Amino acid sequence: MTDYRLLTEQLRALTDGVENTVTNLANAAALLYHSLDNINWAGFYLLDGDRLLLGPFQGKPACTVIPVGKGVCGTAAAEGRTQLVADVHAFPGHIACDSASNSEIVVPLFKDGAVAGVLDIDSPVLSRFTEADREGLEAFAALLQTLL
Ligand code: SME
Repeated sequence: MTDYRLLTEQLRALTDGVENTVTNLANAAALLYHSLDNINWAGFYLLDGDRLLLGPFQGKPACTVIPVGKGVCGTAAAEGRTQLVADVHAFPGHIACDSASNSEIVVPLFKDGAVAGVLDIDSPVLSRFTEADREGLEAFAALLQTLL
C-alpha cells in the first residue's frame, strides 16, 4: 500500500523553488517509478494541439504520439477523467507500448481549467490499481498540475 501523503510531500520538497516543467515532471516520474510496487512504467504525456506527446518518464521507451480520444491516455485527456483499467487488453483501442503491461491508471492534469496532459502508470499485474491509488494519485496530480 503506497503512502500517497508521504509521496506528495516528497514531490513538494523535490519541486520547491523549481519552476521548470520538464525538471519537475522528470523528478515526479522517478519518484513514482521507485515508490510504487509492481509497476513497469510511470510518466507523462503532454497535450500538443489534438494529440498527446511523450513527456518525462521512467520505464521502457514508449509510444511518442497519442491522438486525443485514442487509447487509455487519449480517453483520459478527452473525458478529463481518471481511467482505472483492470485489464488493458479489454480496453477498446488500448495502445500497447510495452507488452508486459496488463493494468493501467491514467490521471488527467489540468491547467487553467483545461486538460494539459496526463499522468500514466502501467503494471504487469492485472487489477494492480485500486480506488485508494486513484485517490492518492489524484491528490499527487493536484500538486503536480500547479507546476505545469
Ligand atoms: N497504454 C497507453 C499508452 C501509453 S503507454 O502505456 C506508456 C494507452 O493506451 O494510452
